[in-house]
Amino acid sequence: MRIGVIGAGSMGRILAHHIGKLGHHVSIANSRGPESLTVLAAEIGATPLSVFDAAKAGEMVILAIPTKAVTDLPRELFANVADGVVVIDIGNYHPELRDGRIDC
Ligand SMILES: NC(=O)c1ccc[n+]([C@@H]2O[C@H](COP(=O)([O-])OP(=O)(O)OC[C@H]3O[C@@H](n4cnc5c(N)ncnc54)[C@H](OP(=O)(O)O)[C@@H]3O)[C@@H](O)[C@H]2O)c1
Repeated sequence: MRIGVIGAGSMGRILAHHIGKLGHHVSIANSRGPESLTVLAAEIGATPLSVFDAAKAGEMVILAIPTKAVTDLPRELFANVADGVVVIDIGNYHPELRDGRIDC
């Protein structure tokens, strides 16, 4: 399976690593661009991509970024993603720990 992981912090890198070890093709992205992921990607056997490309790189896309950062993602991020792609957001909202108050 092709799986895109957006977020390369504590959770994203662990998920990408383990998913890759299971034999899936994993792409990974962060906020700073694929160049910043060259070393990590080589270590965990993933392909470094931009956020846009990672969103289109998989039959499944995993969002592994802080909840407060979701609104920073491009609004059209999933506009051209194929039908049937599964998007999983693993974020937990932590208002006191990291996210602050997010108004609806
Ligand atoms: N479901 C679970 O079991 C579970 C367990 C633990 C944590 N979580 C949740 O998982 C989420 C991530 O936690 P974490 O500890 O992995 O966070 P983290 O270590 O702070 O890493 C956050 C990652 O998100 C990236 N990011 C932030 N804003 C972005 C944006 N606009 N576009 C693209 N990438 C962006 C960061 O990119 P840079 O590296 O470029 O800054 C970084 O790679 C949180 O919501 C946390 O609560 C879930």
